[in-house]
Amino acid sequence: MSLFGRDPLAEAIRALQQELEGGPIAVLPPALDELGSLFLEREERARRPLRDVVEREILAGLPDAAALLGKDGRVRFANSAFDALSAGGRADGLTMLEVTRSGDLAHATKLALAGTARRLEVTVGRRSFVAQLTPLLRGEVMAVLRDDTDARRLEAIRRDFVANASHELRTPVTAIAGAAETLLVGALADPAQARGFVEIVARHAERLVRLTQDLLDLSRIETGQWAIEIADLELRPVAEHVLAYVTETAARKRMELRNQVPADLRASGDARALEQVLVNLVDNALKYTPEGGTVTLAAAPGEGGVILSVQDDGPGIERHHLARLFERFYRVDAGRSRELGGTGLGLAIVKHLVQAQHGEVGVESGSGGSRFWVRLPARP
Ligand SMILES: Nc1ncnc2c1ncn2[C@@H]1O[C@H](COP(=O)(O)OP(=O)(O)OP(=O)(O)O)[C@@H](O)[C@H]1O
Ligand SMILES: [Mg+2]
Repeated sequence: MSLFGRDPLAEAIRALQQELEGGPIAVLPPALDELGSLFLEREERARRPLRDVVEREILAGLPDAAALLGKDGRVRFANSAFDALSAGGRADGLTMLEVTRSGDLAHATKLALAGTARRLEVTVGRRSFVAQLTPLLRGEVMAVLRDDTDARRLEAIRRDFVANASHELRTPVTAIAGAAETLLVGALADPAQARGFVEIVARHAERLVRLTQDLLDLSRIETGQWAIEIADLELRPVAEHVLAYVTETAARKRMELRNQVPADLRASGDARALEQVLVNLVDNALKYTPEGGTVTLAAAPGEGGVILSVQDDGPGIERHHLARLFERFYRVDAGRSRELGGTGLGLAIVKHLVQAQHGEVGVESGSGGSRFWVRLPARP
């Protein structure tokens, strides 16, 4: 009973109804306010199991590593990608520092728990992530870590590629421009001198043609425009074709070419692509083996298919180069390769073409020479 003999509860209800209908804000006695909060708390508790299920489902559906951290900074739920970040494979109950071992991330989580959203780049294990920490209304934090390791690696490859390609293009372009200018400012008038400069132009132009052709080939293979038609191939004619193509080069260097591909051996592949692969390998063997050497093209049934190989008795390649040999523009001795007209794309093309034929490529090399091999499936 109030001082004025009215019912305070009825009074409060009326005041609230008026507020909800657009009236002034109801001023409630403290005890009623307290009661209101308790009701809310009870409702919240009743709803929590359902909310937990929904939140778990949402986390599980995210493609990134995601977790909900409680007010105490410990993981309440995590999806499997987030679990996988922790050494033990489970993140429940752990702190951000315990899961990721990242001080930056632990610090950012603390700030997020205090109400400030954070976005940062972090490294966890060997992978890099973009982490987003979002404070939630109830004082918890939602952590989402997007793995961008592959995207960064691709970006680095692209940057390297552009840098390498521009560098390779610059040399011949500079030489051509220089020779043309020398001709224009006077050398044209002296036929003996002029010939030398025109030869420079021709040589470097040829290099540009090769380079652009190789780059085009690579991009055609990668974009699938180089249509690969797999068939059951007879290997001996392919080998004969390849060796015929390089006979003259070999003769000039007094090199012996051996064909050890058996007459009846077959493999699954694309004739044109396989020829290109073998031409590139034989071309290398001839180029990097000193005069008078021997290059052997062989094939034999092997584990998981048919193995074709190109073997030389040249200087061999030091072991630490082998892993990178098939990368674009990778050359053991860039100066020497360039001298021989190389662009460092030959083996990259080989690798792509072999993969397009569902095969595998590799190299063994020692002081006695190098052996590049290609494995193709035995039948289509
Ligand atoms: N048979 C080999 N013996 C020794 N070194 C080799 C042999 N084959 C390849 N190499 C090394 O591997 C590097 C890469 O070969 P790749 O065929 O990709 O490029 P390249 O021959 O320099 O140029 P390109 O083939 O584009 O004209 C070469 O520069 C060379 O250093
Ligand atoms: Mg080559």
